[in-house]
Amino acid sequence: MDNDKNVLLKVDNLSQYFKLGNTKLKAVDHVSFSIKKGEVFGLVGESGCGKTTTGRTIIKLYNATGGSVYFENTRIVAGALDYKENIKNKRKELDNKLKELKKDKEDELAKDSNNATSINEKYDKLIAELKEEAKVYIQEQNKEIKKAKFDQKKCDKVFIKNNVLALKNKYQSLLEKAKTEEEKENLNKEYRKELKKARHEKLITKIQMIFQDPIASLDPRMTVKDIIAEGLVIQGVKDKKYLEEKVYEVLELVGLVREHADRYPHEFSGGQRQRIGIARAIIMNPELIIADEPVSALDVSIQAQVLNLLNDLRNKLGLTILFVAHNLSVVKYFSDRVGVMYFGQMVELTTSDELFKHPLHPYTKSLLSAIPLPDPEYEKQRVRFVYNPLVEHDYSEEKPKFQEVIPGHYVLCNTKELEKYRQEIKNIDLKNNASHNGKKKKKN
Ligand SMILES: Nc1ncnc2c1ncn2[C@@H]1O[C@H](COP(=O)(O)OP(=O)(O)OP(=O)(O)O)[C@@H](O)[C@H]1O
Ligand SMILES: [Mg+2]
Repeated sequence: MDNDKNVLLKVDNLSQYFKLGNTKLKAVDHVSFSIKKGEVFGLVGESGCGKTTTGRTIIKLYNATGGSVYFENTRIVAGALDYKENIKNKRKELDNKLKELKKDKEDELAKDSNNATSINEKYDKLIAELKEEAKVYIQEQNKEIKKAKFDQKKCDKVFIKNNVLALKNKYQSLLEKAKTEEEKENLNKEYRKELKKARHEKLITKIQMIFQDPIASLDPRMTVKDIIAEGLVIQGVKDKKYLEEKVYEVLELVGLVREHADRYPHEFSGGQRQRIGIARAIIMNPELIIADEPVSALDVSIQAQVLNLLNDLRNKLGLTILFVAHNLSVVKYFSDRVGVMYFGQMVELTTSDELFKHPLHPYTKSLLSAIPLPDPEYEKQRVRFVYNPLVEHDYSEEKPKFQEVIPGHYVLCNTKELEKYRQEIKNIDLKNNASHNGKKKKKN
């Protein structure tokens, strides 16, 4: 999964902790997933489980506490937590080992007091070796922390440098091929324009977020035109005519009309406001859209329209989407793969079909049991199952890890649970095959 060159976004052990008085709130805790180009990845979980925080950390609205995010293979987010933990653990390990050695040494000296000098020498050497090994390790971790700080702050510097270099190479070879002076002059003009743009371009603008609340996220004092064009203006685009044309273009793409451009957000319905939010994202020509519950604040009748719009845009513009929702029914319709979050952790991750066919983690099952279906028979039997981690798991002997149960299907579980889940999949498949065959026989 990790080395796939089709991966657009890779989130690796991302953590975002907030200080809450003397304690820390682990809003996002070692979350990992990746999104392939063109894919819609659904992130689900109940209110407060850390979905929005994950999105906001990816687009660098926060400084990540730990882990990394790679976008187009460049590390754009990097936190120091895990390196610091490594250092802490190493120090603890060293302490313990030194204590053990000290005890061994005393035992040996008590047994064989005649050879005190050589015993002392032997242990001094062992201790020095251990200390040196720990020192080298800690130095390495400190280097990683420095690198993380650099990437978190300066990833755009590297991105711009590479883009400027690519432009230079492109125009150099074009200029060499140019025949007339006029041609050369035009190329030079174009080159200067592109260069200026590249120097302002930030990698992070290729990721755009559509916010959860379409009312709060639009400035009421700005016209729709100014709201939508703002990102380009910040990038240094000054050409009024060009900006206007761009705004009209994206307004049409999201199903609004150019006459809407001079109005203010309060003159629009909820669904229309969310379209404005989508237009504001699309104008930046993003590769990835993080759509944070884009329909949950809307009337049910409008929800489908906005979802259809996102689906159209995905096809038309080749977008990749991280789609956040707290309800699995919306995600099923819209996502290729789904990650289920519970209290800051990813508990299950697989394709949309597989998740509905073989839901494994009890929290996923509880989310599924909450989906009503337009089938009276099913509704009569539907039992709402409430997840209680203390009842469902016994992690006293072995803590859970995020593990692959069958290819492409990951669950947070320990070894015992892993075996149980594998058996569960087999049982479901056996049952399905039996009922499938049963139906076949009836038909015959
Ligand atoms: N800036 C912040 N400072 C402190 N705590 C925060 C901050 N932002 C979020 N939190 C806390 O982090 C946790 C996760 O919040 P988050 O908004 O990511 O949840 P969510 O999954 O998006 O929920 P919802 O479905 O309600 O939008 C919550 O407990 C929240 O109170
Ligand atoms: Mg949220």
